[in-house]
Amino acid sequence: MDAQQRKYVSVRPDLPGPRTEQLLKRRVEYVSRGAGNNHPLFVDSAEGALIVDVDGNTYLDFAGAIGTLNAGHRPPEVVRAIKEQLDRYIHPCFHVGMYEPYVALAQKLTEITPGDYAKKALLLSSGAEAVENAVKLARKYTNRPGIVSFTRGFHGRTLLGMSLTSKVKPYKFRMGPYAPATYKAPYPYPLHRPAPMTEEEYALYCVSQFEAFLLTEAAPEELAAVIMEPVQGEGGFIVPPASFVRGVYDICRRHGILFIADEIQTGFGRTGHMFASTHFGIEPDLITLSKSIAAGLPLSAVVGRADVMDAADPGEVGGTYGGSPLGCVAALAVIEQMEREDLPGRAASMGETLRRYFAELAARHPVIAEVRGLGAMCAIELAHPADGSPAPDLAARLIRRCFEKGVVLLGAGIYGNVIRFLPPLVMTDEQLLEGLDIMKEALEEL
Ligand SMILES: Cc1ncc(COP(=O)(O)O)c(C=O)c1O
Repeated sequence: MDAQQRKYVSVRPDLPGPRTEQLLKRRVEYVSRGAGNNHPLFVDSAEGALIVDVDGNTYLDFAGAIGTLNAGHRPPEVVRAIKEQLDRYIHPCFHVGMYEPYVALAQKLTEITPGDYAKKALLLSSGAEAVENAVKLARKYTNRPGIVSFTRGFHGRTLLGMSLTSKVKPYKFRMGPYAPATYKAPYPYPLHRPAPMTEEEYALYCVSQFEAFLLTEAAPEELAAVIMEPVQGEGGFIVPPASFVRGVYDICRRHGILFIADEIQTGFGRTGHMFASTHFGIEPDLITLSKSIAAGLPLSAVVGRADVMDAADPGEVGGTYGGSPLGCVAALAVIEQMEREDLPGRAASMGETLRRYFAELAARHPVIAEVRGLGAMCAIELAHPADGSPAPDLAARLIRRCFEKGVVLLGAGIYGNVIRFLPPLVMTDEQLLEGLDIMKEALEEL
């Protein structure tokens, strides 16, 4: 059958193709079932905002490897930096043979993260590992055990990561017991704001819930840190009221509780600033970073107050692969590209286009209960118009249909009824509109 032709997207209507079929069979036979897959997609090559599968179908990428590719697939400067690095050394291991890219990236991260104080950085390999190390440093510095995260938050799949995470299925079901001294406080959900409250009243109410939490669940004197996503990612791209974030931040200050901003998904330009904390006027004590830091190389970081970062004695934090040279040179090239091409500015304008487009669609399709986001961290939430109940089946069908038409999308939210957009910020307006038109077509079909 003929491929469905547009300017960028080109997919055959009889997916999956023969090579994909074969690989799917081998995947089922040899790869652990628990490593989930969002789509029956085997990638052959990728460039910018386009993915080509092993059968030659071309897709527009609205998922960006779950927010890892703000700088795009294979940015040329990043590829060049990695190739040059490969010709010199691959991995002397920072704990054995130090190398300049680690120090240069640590310095750069201290310069670009919010916070007008002396900072240091620790480099690691994955997001969950950054979260683990931020918690270790916070406990060591404060000499307190407790860590507070928030309902619908996501912080990774390690034991501590899932303990801080607040979605049971699929992230933690029957995998406990969870790490002790971890607590969940309520996080706002503006879509579900009780009707009589104004936005500001709702924000104050949420802060008062946090104050009550410190009376009912955990004494502030026992808390080392609060870890918060400034905008929730897996939880459904929920943007909290600024006065809630600042309210919690101020309470932390008053009680000597460290504030850790988990910017693993919000960071590196996605929300219209390099880091989302800037939107909320906060200067976190520690920030966890990963995903788009290095255009897909496995790298993460904890950056923050020098005194907290120095709380651990030599050898207490780090790891064999932490701050791999390939990741460091990639990250330096990514940051350079973001500054040169003003990718945070691009995120802001992309976000406006996305919200405008879906606001118009929502006016005609009441199943779109909300269009929300900050910068290009945008999402739509689907609910049954009759009673406002979540519509996860429709979201799954829409994502599936879009994939069949050549757009790679991701769901989110505890009910699975949110569709989130994480396109590479290098996606052109023309590509963006082609993808959105495909989504519109799919939505109208369904
Ligand atoms: C906010 C946040 N924290 C932590 C993580 C965990 O990162 P990783 O999957 O690299 O361990 C993620 C991943 O989605 C995330 O979005």
